[in-house]
Order: sequence, then structure tokens, then C-alpha cells
Amino acid sequence: MGKLNLNINDVAPWVTKAEVNAMDALATVANRALHEGTLPGSDFLGWVNLPSSITEAQIEEIEESAVQLRTLCDVVVVVGIGGSYLGAKAVIDALTSSFDWLETKRENPVVVYAGNNISEDYLHELMEYLDDKSFGIINISKSGTTTEPALSFRILKNELEKKVGRDEARKRIVAITDASKGALRTLAVKEEYKTFVIPDDVGGRYSVLTPVGLLPIAVAGINIRLLVQGALEMEKKTDQTTPFKDNLAAIYAVTRNELYKKGKKIEILANFHPKLQYFAEWWKQLFGESEGKENKGIFNAAVNFTTDLHSMGQWIQEGERTIFETTISIDTPNKKMTIPHDQADLDGLNYLEGKRVDEVNKMAELGTRIAHVDGGVPNIVVSIPELTPYYIGQLIYFFEKACGISGYLLGVNPFDQPGVEAYKANMFALLEKPGFEKETEEIKKRL
Ligand code: PA5
Repeated sequence: MGKLNLNINDVAPWVTKAEVNAMDALATVANRALHEGTLPGSDFLGWVNLPSSITEAQIEEIEESAVQLRTLCDVVVVVGIGGSYLGAKAVIDALTSSFDWLETKRENPVVVYAGNNISEDYLHELMEYLDDKSFGIINISKSGTTTEPALSFRILKNELEKKVGRDEARKRIVAITDASKGALRTLAVKEEYKTFVIPDDVGGRYSVLTPVGLLPIAVAGINIRLLVQGALEMEKKTDQTTPFKDNLAAIYAVTRNELYKKGKKIEILANFHPKLQYFAEWWKQLFGESEGKENKGIFNAAVNFTTDLHSMGQWIQEGERTIFETTISIDTPNKKMTIPHDQADLDGLNYLEGKRVDEVNKMAELGTRIAHVDGGVPNIVVSIPELTPYYIGQLIYFFEKACGISGYLLGVNPFDQPGVEAYKANMFALLEKPGFEKETEEIKKRL
């Protein structure tokens, strides 16, 4: 079986292998702290052992619930924001057909999302789409009080109950939330919804391998056992007994921190497969929310190539030299397509005749890497053999572990997100939410 690989050859001359290796001891301490809980954020380390601690009974319960939703629903709406939907969407998009949602003869329900925005048009259009569909809802909120999903759920629940009645609606709604706290828990108990618990010690952005990610992923027809198995493989390969030289997550964490110290303040995650767009969104949240605090942290951005080579490519090649690039590379595509002969050859492409499309993509990838390095953009490559649940599982755990180590190397608590509250407080003040009277008065003076 192949494996995830990391190539940091192209970060030199900005960062040398010697500089990376010199961080061995600190990275090892940071990794150990994740296992022993000795640094800030130790209440949120449940994700570290998730792949090895998930039980057969837990997997079966998730699979059973997925079967129920798959049987009753043509469409399942996943309601959640941030860590409560990005992991599921990342995996589902990466592992299903790009045109899956257009398929009419379906084996699996269509999975759509709500509660990740407050757009009236989006919600209205979603309701129009659901109008003639048999749908169900997975409502996910760890705190159980987040406005965006709560608001969307209220509208969806109302529609579903109108459509199928309260008793049938109950069978099609699953709530994933805290074990005892929050409005969603209260609602779920009252309405007798099927529920799953988000463990207290797993933060939203690290929750994809809990029911938060696993239930929607199973509903989409993806083998969650293989996903967990891949993550487990990476858990073992990055554990606290693994020497730094073999711990790819630690090496990636160190490399990006060394680049940051040299003024490379922006990391762009590049992919050459449109299916990975949301994997990058998940990655952006993971690193951005974990490290961007105390006025420091790499700014995380993402590009989809070759698409964005025709938009952001210019900036990357010749703009301010404050970026580095991490490319997710897929060794072998899942499908095969060769380039046909054309008698007239008016497009001049006969020189590619008989080649796989992926050969062209790979040369674009290599050519881009060389060009960007030549242009002053250090490059890291993270590659997996193919896009399968097993390797996506590896990739998820690899980045989670790297993020924990990286945050500690940076000197921040990678498991809190105090900055997210600022907009909420203003929004509540502006909406005149009960309890925010003083804030309402203050903010109105500023308008
Ligand atoms: O990583 C996080 O903790 C956040 O992104 C949360 O997942 C997000 O804010 C949603 O919170 P909740 O699940 O409590 O609704």
C-alpha cells in the first residue's frame, strides 16, 4: 500500500534542511505536549486519539443512522458552520463525482448544506429546491447556540414539519451537539430526535472524525471505516514515540514555521483537482483559526490550479515575496481518459495524442512548481497515492497533527478561537438581542 509523502526540497534556499533539523527537540516537545496535555488547550486534545479510540459500536451507530436517512430521504441538508460542516463537505466533495448532484438515477441522497451563511436568497433558493424533494436534516452545532445554523434549522424544521408532519419529521432529523448543554440539546430532547454527542474535548475544526463529519460522510455513501483506518495509520506514524526525522506532520509544522520566521507570512494551499477545493477550505479553517491570534500567525489562502493560474497566478509569480506554497499532489487519478487523435489537428494538440489527461496535469503541476520556486515562492509538496477514503483519512490526521505542533511552535494555544466572538457581539447588539442592551446603546452611537 502506498503512503502519504512530504517533500520539502524546494524550500531551500529560504530554509535549509539543517534549519529544519535544528528544530527536532522543540517539535518533539510540542508533539509530546499534544499527547500528554502539558501546554495550553489541553482540554481540547480528544482529537489526538480519535482514530484509535473510536469503537465498533460507535461506527455501527453512525452507519445505522445513515441508513435510516438514506432510506427516507432523497436529499439530506447538513446544517452547521465552520468545523460543523467543513470537514464533511471537504471529504464528500473529494470522494464523489464532480457532477454527483446532477445525477438523477441515484444510489445516495444528495447532500446539501445550510447554516453556514445568513443569506436570505440562499435559504429561499434552498427551500425552492427542496420543495418537491423528500428531505431530512442533520443539525450540527457543538455549542448548540450558534446563530447561523439555529436560524436555518428553524426554517428547515418548519418546512419539513409542514410537509411530512411532526412525527415523520422526527425520524428525518438528527442532532449532533454537546452531551448536555445548549439550545440544540434542549430541542433535541424535547422533540426526541436521534442525537450524537460531540465530545467536550474535541473542538469544531478537529471534529471531522466524530459523528460531525462521519454521519454526513456515511450518508453520502462513503466508507467511513476506511477513512478512520487511514487516519489511524497517520496517528500511529506521528505519535510521540516517532522520531522527528520520520514524523512528517512535525517536519511540515517546523518547515512552515521556519518559512514564517523568514518573512513568508502567507501560505497558499494549491491543488490540481477541483474536487479538493473544499478540502482546502477545511484546511484554511484548521490552520487559520488555530494560529491566527495574538497578532501573529501565517495567513492561509487556497488556490485551485490550473484554474487560478489564470487569475492569481500572476500575483503568485511576481507579487510581493511574502508567500510560500504547499501543493497537495495526487499520484494517480481514479479514472482514465486519453487524448484522442484529430485528423485536422487545427488545435495543434496531436503531439499529446494517446497521453493520459493526467500526464498533462502533472506537467502543469511540475512546471508551476519550478516557475514559482524560480519566482521566489518556496514550495512544499504533500502527496497521496490516490483520492480514496483511506488516503483522505491520512491527509486529515496529518494536517490536524501538524496544526497542533505548529501552533505550539508559534507559541499560541491552537485550540481556542476568542476572536470569533467579536462579530457576534456586534451583531447581537445591532439586532437588539435581549441581554445586549448596553452594547446596543454603545454601538448605535458609532453609526
Ligand atoms: O472550530 C470551531 O470551533 C468553530 O469553527 C465552530 O465549529 C463553529 O464556530 C461552529 O460552532 P458550533 O458547532 O458550536 O455551532
